[in-house]
Amino acid sequence: MNDVFPVHGMDAVVFAVGNAKQAAHYYSTAFGMRLVAYRGPETGSRDEVAYVLVSGSARFELRGAVRAGTPLARHVAEHGDGVIDLALDVPDVETAYRHALEQGARGLEEPHVVEDDHGKVVVAAIAAYGDTRHTLIDRSNYTGLYLPGYVAAEPIVAPPAVKNGRLFQAVDHCVGNVERMEEWVEFYEKVMGFTKMAEFIGDDIATEYSALMSKVVADGTRKVKFPLNEPAEGKKKSQIEEFLEFYGGPGVQHIALATNDIVTTVDAMREAGIEFLHTPDSYYDDPELRSRIGEVRVPVEELKRRRILVDRDEDGYLLQIFTKPVVDRPTVFFELIERHGSLGFGKGNFKALFEAIEREQERRGTL
Ligand SMILES: [Fe+2]
Repeated sequence: MNDVFPVHGMDAVVFAVGNAKQAAHYYSTAFGMRLVAYRGPETGSRDEVAYVLVSGSARFELRGAVRAGTPLARHVAEHGDGVIDLALDVPDVETAYRHALEQGARGLEEPHVVEDDHGKVVVAAIAAYGDTRHTLIDRSNYTGLYLPGYVAAEPIVAPPAVKNGRLFQAVDHCVGNVERMEEWVEFYEKVMGFTKMAEFIGDDIATEYSALMSKVVADGTRKVKFPLNEPAEGKKKSQIEEFLEFYGGPGVQHIALATNDIVTTVDAMREAGIEFLHTPDSYYDDPELRSRIGEVRVPVEELKRRRILVDRDEDGYLLQIFTKPVVDRPTVFFELIERHGSLGFGKGNFKALFEAIEREQERRGTL
């Protein structure tokens, strides 16, 4: 089939943060990521610093403003720390960009070439939900570490003492919280030729208080998966509404990181001070859950000890766990996911997950 908007995968998740230097330290020490590249005033970047960290194929760029009044400084002032760009690796930037604009996307950066001694990169950008953007990037003719203008940087700390020296190997999916889900599902269908995956969460799956609706769009190869959430009417304030209020509009809610050994990863991250959502004993002791999930790689007792969730569908199963928000505002968080055949997102865990989030909302006084 002719893919109108082929993508190779995620290129980078770009964060705007209030203090990139400290954030780089946090993602190094607590997420086991390796600093590889940097730009800042010393390298000719007058207004910003940027730290590029990797873990397997996952790449984060952390950008911070060094002076007031720049677009980045304003973004952080308005939204707090958060994701500004879900950059996509595409084979043909020009064609992708033109197609996107023809289909109604708003262009932010015309396709252009940036180059240095390591070769050429083609870059363009389109607007997504809220103040989030998608940079479209082709680095196939580039051998440098990241982009022209960046210099090599040494890792901040030694790699984690685990197999492969990393805690996760890829970005699994990136979730957006929006006001109107259907509008953005249609955007990704039209603009990027993405298609809906089977998982659909209606407000029927809500807890007593908090409701949301969710659909997932993905590219043809299923390498890029974007679930989209919309708040639904509940008795109290939905966690999506809370996000929209505190972030100041639509934005990226969570990034799921793929690991082959969620037990080791969770243990290492907890040891480093990362806080995960609590799941009550009742979740694990429920005979219905035990019969539904059947045989999984890790004994249920081990999952229970770490509060790791498990879900099974017709294709297989997955293990997952969610951090608490990792920024000051109750906005951005992470998920760890270990897949065994399942292509889902843990639909069977939504209720348990929402209830855990509601307990946190209650503590914040925002339920
Ligand atoms: Fe997720």
